Amino acid sequence: MSSYVTKKTPGDTSWFVHDRFGMFIHFGLYAMPARHEWVKNREETPEEVYERYFTYFNPDLYDPREWAKQAKAAGMKYAVLTTKHHEGFCLFDSQYTDYKSTNTPFGRDLVREYVDAFRAEGLHVGFYYSLIDWHHPDFPIDPFHPRRDDPDALEQNEGRDVHRYAEYMRNQVRELLTNYGKIDILWFDFSYSQLKGEGEKSWQVGKGKDDWEAEKLLALARELQPHIIIDNRTEIDQDIWTPEQYQPTEWVRHPETGELVTWEACQTFSGSWGYYRDEMTWKSPEMLLRMLINTVALGGNLIMNVGPTARGYLDERAQSALQVYADWMKYNSRSIYGCTMAEPEFTAPADCRLTQSQDGKRLYLHLFAYPFLHLSVKGLKGKVKYAQFLHDGSEILVDDQVGGFGTTQESGDEAVFHLPAVKPNCLVPVIEVFLD
Ligand code: GLC
Repeated sequence: MSSYVTKKTPGDTSWFVHDRFGMFIHFGLYAMPARHEWVKNREETPEEVYERYFTYFNPDLYDPREWAKQAKAAGMKYAVLTTKHHEGFCLFDSQYTDYKSTNTPFGRDLVREYVDAFRAEGLHVGFYYSLIDWHHPDFPIDPFHPRRDDPDALEQNEGRDVHRYAEYMRNQVRELLTNYGKIDILWFDFSYSQLKGEGEKSWQVGKGKDDWEAEKLLALARELQPHIIIDNRTEIDQDIWTPEQYQPTEWVRHPETGELVTWEACQTFSGSWGYYRDEMTWKSPEMLLRMLINTVALGGNLIMNVGPTARGYLDERAQSALQVYADWMKYNSRSIYGCTMAEPEFTAPADCRLTQSQDGKRLYLHLFAYPFLHLSVKGLKGKVKYAQFLHDGSEILVDDQVGGFGTTQESGDEAVFHLPAVKPNCLVPVIEVFLD
């Protein structure tokens, strides 16, 4: 069994740490301007201008069954959809606002169709819910708000009551966790209580757990769905830590106690969460695979984001990225599902990442660079019962002879894997090792 002990979680993370890989989906009105989900913040878009996206929102090609099929093929076992992002637009038929998909030309509850489609493909379903809301009349203007630089921002802010807004959030979270069946993940985003405006804008301050009335919000979620997995972005620790747009280099630990925590890296295929037509920093196939493998090799989960177009489909760039995962996971998913960081007795060779099955019986060597003929792994001598390439099940011979022509000698504590001279036709070949 894995020797790693993690901080206990209030929710049921047993399936989560087995499944390892999910799809994040950022969809909303911001898909129409198609230049980042923060476009309203970045361009300080006036309400009456942003309203045009509400007026014309009609993702007529929306078919979440397609999304679910592609997620499943890519090896993703769960999904998290933005039910409401910072713009405040709701993709579900909420009784607490008119700013929702059922009041647009599209006229349907996108969340309903999403949960049905992803459940039908056997995936766990999660909701992202933005704590930030740049549309709600009670959300106080702050350094992130699109109205922050308006000449009359202070007047606009009069009468806004963040506690009325906190009640609005509780009402919507109740709707989301009551009307759509069993929800597996609730992904709040995000707190920024340290932020503060400067000079004449010093009245503009960030928001954190007290503004959200986070204790009440979390208690409500747990009352409605006790098993649910919740992130830590309300500023109150819950089930998962969520390093974003960077790759940790060790197993994430609790900042105060130092305990190993359950964590999920969240990343985008390109440089944007929402669909961004002209953004070109799409990750290479190698980078996509290395992110997943590196994450599991450090005991974490990876959730990769797609930003559907305003017509409701995943564009060819997103589909190509998903296909990279599908091609690799088809043969190599055994090194991801049910796996975690390898035991400390095993040392990963250069350009290699190790994962190990939770039951300790299988070790996986991921070859980021393909070695010439041999791969020596410290700590493995005499512990290998059998080894094979995972992609085609072909045997890999193993002994404890190190060195080459004329200099061969018995290794100290290394097992030596004998590899074909030519790299297999697999972006990251994996050796599956059955341990004694
Ligand atoms: C950041 C971004 C937000 C995105 C989130 C996903 O908070 O501001 O747009 O939804 O990351 O983790």
